[in-house]
Amino acid sequence: MDRWIEKDLKYVWHPYTQMKDCETLPPILIEKAKGIKLYDNKGNIYYDTISSWWCNVHGHNHPKIKAAIKKQLNSLEHILFAGFTHKPAILLAERLVSITPEALTRVFFSDNGATAVETALKMSFQYWQNIGEKRKIRFVSLDNGYHGDTLGAMSVGGVEQFNAVFSPLFFPSFKAPSPYCYRCPMGKERASCNIDCLKPLEEILKNNGEQIAAMILEPLIMAAGGMIVYPKEYLEKAAFLVRKYNVHLIVDEVATGFGRTGKMFACEHVNIQPDFMCLSKGITAGFLPLAVTLTTDRIYYAFYDDYEKRKTFCHGHTYTANPVSCSAAIASLDVFQEQDTINKISKTMPVFQEGLEKMRDLPFVGDVRKIGMIGAIEVVKDKKSKSVFNFEERIGFEIYKKGLAKKLLLRPLGNIIYLFPPLCIKREELVYVLDNFYEVIKDIEP
Ligand SMILES: Cc1ncc(COP(=O)(O)O)c(C=O)c1O
Repeated sequence: MDRWIEKDLKYVWHPYTQMKDCETLPPILIEKAKGIKLYDNKGNIYYDTISSWWCNVHGHNHPKIKAAIKKQLNSLEHILFAGFTHKPAILLAERLVSITPEALTRVFFSDNGATAVETALKMSFQYWQNIGEKRKIRFVSLDNGYHGDTLGAMSVGGVEQFNAVFSPLFFPSFKAPSPYCYRCPMGKERASCNIDCLKPLEEILKNNGEQIAAMILEPLIMAAGGMIVYPKEYLEKAAFLVRKYNVHLIVDEVATGFGRTGKMFACEHVNIQPDFMCLSKGITAGFLPLAVTLTTDRIYYAFYDDYEKRKTFCHGHTYTANPVSCSAAIASLDVFQEQDTINKISKTMPVFQEGLEKMRDLPFVGDVRKIGMIGAIEVVKDKKSKSVFNFEERIGFEIYKKGLAKKLLLRPLGNIIYLFPPLCIKREELVYVLDNFYEVIKDIEP
């Protein structure tokens, strides 16, 4: 075994990894990356079809973002963000306010997706406390929703596989069925349903609205919960319902933000004005950790008062608004503008989505889901009954290994095999990825 890998296995504990698996499939040592390709220490190439956990946007090693980081390092690497500020954070906040829904006017910085979510939950909670609505202490969220791995974010999460062992630690929250059309919780068919899964949500809001501070959801696609793409009408109507019952709406755009769904933010596909928006991952185009929680003036001014009134938001993280990360984020927004990225992907999207659609007829493909530059296959044992492979069969792990053999970095979510490539993917690269993805899915053997 390579001495670096020996050392890795001696000292490192990797996330979401059964370390015992590394005895037979050790981690791959990546030495450099460019565009959508990763290069290991043995000269192998891997196509980063999942944008390195959904954060890479313009490709690895992008010269413009790298230059912005280097430039920033010449003047200021980091300072505390209370009582002090810096130009990269100010400029980034201004830019984000100008491109997100109109009602969002204030930017609170943190450093990863889960912290952006924790911030939104705590802000919403304290908003109601500050204005004297003391009973509003609960949240509503969706089955199969995912908002990060900290305990608050998990309390409003709904992915059984991740949550089960930790559930005794969670705060109670209301869970509404998810708009999972392929496995409709209401037993309906999308073609004839009237978004009936909104009814249980409305019941929860009607019966408990006075106790609920906010609803949190991932707009249009529940990503980690199974790449569940859902109808726009669900989002629109859920936004209407929360307003009706005086409940905040938190949109978690950590995965969907920055062009992923074909628009800069998934919210733009519908006409909604959330009270909070959480952004991270793609914000720095995959270069450095950074996150923001955007909110409205209405929320902001409920905290703005004389110190003695105890309305201050006592929350923050050491690396909040790191100037180098903020500079990377500004450079990424510049690349979006200069390269007209959103317009460009509107031309890539049809090729991507048609390629995925071709897989529908393969033997173990139960469903094909797609939005923007996200595409997923739900693998089933039997198409008719939609029965799933057993957990012990580890179908996802087998597909991961088959992907590597074809130079594809795939990271299935159980029985969901997906593509989430950097937006900069070139046509010939896309063709390579789709052709080989097809071969991998075709070769599935139970
Ligand atoms: C929608 C959503 N929210 C929050 C998170 C958590 O982000 P992080 O892993 O940066 O904490 C993720 C991560 O996958 C996510 O997809």
